[in-house]
Amino acid sequence: MRSKPKALPVIIAAVLLLAGSIVGYVQTGNTSKIPVRVLLKNKGGNVIFSHLAHQRDYQLECSQCHHDKKVDGVVSQGDTVKCESCHPASFDEQYVSTHMNAFPDASYCTRCHHQEYQGAKFDHDAHQDYANDCYDCHHDESIEPEPQKCSNCHKKESSGELISMRLAGHEKCKTCHEDMFDAGVSGCQSCHTPVDMTTYKGDYTACNKCHNAEIKDLLPTRTDAFHKECMGCHEEMGAGPSGPKDCNRCHISK
Ligand code: HEC
Ligand code: HEC
Ligand code: HEC
Ligand code: HEC
Ligand code: HEC
Ligand code: HEC
Ligand code: HEC
Ligand code: HEC
Ligand code: HEC
Ligand code: HEC
Repeated sequence: MRSKPKALPVIIAAVLLLAGSIVGYVQTGNTSKIPVRVLLKNKGGNVIFSHLAHQRDYQLECSQCHHDKKVDGVVSQGDTVKCESCHPASFDEQYVSTHMNAFPDASYCTRCHHQEYQGAKFDHDAHQDYANDCYDCHHDESIEPEPQKCSNCHKKESSGELISMRLAGHEKCKTCHEDMFDAGVSGCQSCHTPVDMTTYKGDYTACNKCHNAEIKDLLPTRTDAFHKECMGCHEEMGAGPSGPKDCNRCHISK
């Protein structure tokens, strides 16, 4: 018991250190521990990725692989997110309904949901002069007894034979403004003012409502993302496995 007074400062220091590390651990929130190795199971055969060797021995920056922090409009995070949160095996219904829960916070959403538009600019009075008559845009009496707002019938989503407001507008406007649509996504701003996404709080529009492309062409799926990132770097640096003969240097077992 004699040693107690001597040991006490050590114990206090140890307790403080422990408390400090617990607080530190809690404060880092979603940050996971940097892995030594990562086991990736897939149909091509398991891949053991030596994380520590890549990051420490080959002296690669985190941002050469984890690119979630360096995008406009995304607040800098201390966190890394699993690749599959953003690059799923396929963009199916399950992905659409569950991916929202895969991110530390809402600032990640605008990395992919990167653009929204305000309703179209449309000067009705001026267009009455541009057109021959009201029925260039409005339906005849068989559908519209009197010209009225399109949105009285055409809603946000299509249903049955009634196309959505977006398609109804686009199809009509296109009869005179084909050039704006021919320009693809860069022509949209002739009618739509882009929203400032850094403060955006509303719903997100599906990618294909603006992009005439498969989502996997806009955002690589999991296997494509890994192959491109892993082999892309190996090719670039002239080191590490890549090419058709090297499959089993990464895929070590079935
Ligand atoms: C050569 C590429 C590469 C480098 C460099 C790299 N990482 Fe990783 N890291 C990965 C891959 C791949 C994974 C596995 C992700 C997965 O399973 O979806 C990973 C996983 C992680 C995880 C675990 C994520 C989780 O939720 O399980 C953390 C944390 C992490 N890395 C942090 C870092 C930090 C910090 C650095 C820089 C010091 C770094 N990484 C450098 C490729 C890399
Ligand atoms: C927060 C979401 C997010 C995370 C996490 C994420 N990615 Fe991506 N990744 C994207 C988006 C969005 C794109 C397409 C647009 C772009 O290039 O910015 C992309 C594109 C890519 C591309 C194609 C780049 C090119 O030059 O064509 C590769 C390769 C890639 N990711 C690999 C990975 C790997 C490997 C990981 C995990 C270490 C990862 N990504 C984690 C969102 C993410
Ligand atoms: C000639 C003008 C015009 C052009 C060009 C145009 N739009 Fe539209 N857009 C409209 C009109 C009109 C509507 C329906 C009324 C409204 O929402 O303001 C609409 C509606 C939409 C909506 C639905 C908005 C909502 O709240 O439901 C989206 C999304 C949209 N447009 C995307 C696009 C994209 C993407 C492009 C480019 C490929 C584009 N628009 C080009 C006129 C245009
Ligand atoms: C170039 C196409 C176009 C032409 C031509 C046109 N309209 Fe319209 N009109 C629209 C669109 C699109 C809307 C819906 C706009 C909105 O809700 O802001 C609309 C809305 C209306 C409305 C409802 C306004 C409200 O606020 O409730 C009336 C009434 C109307 N039009 C009457 C007419 C009459 C009468 C003519 C002919 C003299 C005419 N329009 C010509 C496209 C057109
Ligand atoms: C009273 C309800 C009603 C209103 C108001 C209305 N629509 Fe429609 N619209 C319909 C119905 C029903 C159909 C489907 C029947 C058909 O295709 O003839 C249709 C079909 C369409 C179509 C596809 C077929 C075609 O005629 O090209 C377009 C485009 C369209 N509407 C645009 C508009 C625009 C633009 C406005 C406003 C200026 C408008 N509609 C207002 C009921 C309405
Ligand atoms: C009957 C033909 C016609 C239709 C249908 C039509 N427009 Fe136009 N629009 C014109 C003409 C003509 C002009 C003026 C000349 C120009 O700028 O091309 C114009 C000009 C515009 C402009 C200003 C263009 C600029 O460069 O600033 C906008 C925005 C616009 N229209 C939106 C619409 C929208 C939205 C619709 C569908 C609801 C529509 N227009 C349908 C004929 C049409
Ligand atoms: C890695 C890219 C990516 C990230 C990050 C992302 N999403 Fe998505 N989101 C998608 C894709 C891809 C779809 C489905 C494809 C489509 O547009 O049809 C989608 C669809 C949606 C839809 C359904 C849209 C519709 O009308 O069909 C909602 C809602 C949504 N995401 C919300 C969110 C929220 C909230 C976040 C952030 C917590 C988020 N997303 C982060 C890529 C992403
Ligand atoms: C409201 C319209 C809109 C929506 C919704 C939208 N985008 Fe885009 N996107 C754009 C515009 C505009 C550009 C810039 C094109 C240009 O400058 O020509 C763009 C560019 C891109 C690019 C750069 C490559 C290219 O094709 O030019 C990628 C990748 C991309 N979007 C992915 C997505 C994904 C993934 C989603 C859904 C999660 C999405 N976008 C939703 C409008 C949109
Ligand atoms: C940013 C560049 C970079 C990326 C991204 C990268 N690597 Fe490497 N990798 C290297 C370098 C450099 C070497 C070679 C080191 C040497 O030969 O000294 C290497 C070597 C390897 C080796 C052989 C030696 C070892 O460490 O086991 C394997 C296996 C490997 N990488 C797998 C992967 C996998 C799997 C991924 C993707 C998850 C990946 N690498 C992503 C740079 C990278
Ligand atoms: C640099 C390392 C590396 C090399 C070389 C490599 N792969 Fe892969 N491969 C991966 C990684 C990492 C994954 C993704 C693992 C995951 O999804 O968890 C993967 C995924 C796959 C998948 C899984 C598809 C699925 O849906 O599950 C197949 C198949 C595949 N690779 C085949 C090949 C073939 C064939 C070659 C040679 C031409 C090859 N790989 C070369 C690293 C590599």
